[in-house]
Amino acid sequence: MDYIKLKEAAIKVSTFSYAPYSNFHVGASIQCKDGTIYSGCNIENRSYGLTNCAERSAVFNAIGNGKKDFAAIAIYSPDSAYPLPPCGACRQVLTEFCDKSVPVFFAGKDKNFEMLLLKELYPFDSLHDLKKEHQP
Ligand code: THU
Repeated sequence: MDYIKLKEAAIKVSTFSYAPYSNFHVGASIQCKDGTIYSGCNIENRSYGLTNCAERSAVFNAIGNGKKDFAAIAIYSPDSAYPLPPCGACRQVLTEFCDKSVPVFFAGKDKNFEMLLLKELYPFDSLHDLKKEHQP
């Protein structure tokens, strides 16, 4: 699967990024197992620590629309010279909802997407026992 629509969605949503402080724009999209796609961008705040990354915006958008089964995620930044993988905090959030074998596509300005599995990006899933205990 090449997930072309998913990658295009991440590129498109990066244009909605609100990043007046860093000027670093990011878009992310998540494809659900039913084929639907939810997107999000980074949203900064003048109180810098309140910034939300694009990846978490996309995941929260999907969850808020009743979706929980995810097949893949794509991340794009027109301002990155290299393919931009998710930050550590977003990797942790992704592991809450995605299984370890979900492919994560990520690209910088040249739109050349690389792919790693979530388990490659986050091999030691923090607090995974706690998650197992509380899954419905
Ligand atoms: N950012 C993301 O949205 N995703 C990443 O993977 C890395 C960083 C955002 C946060 C902040 O708005 C800006 O990029 C610079 O760090």
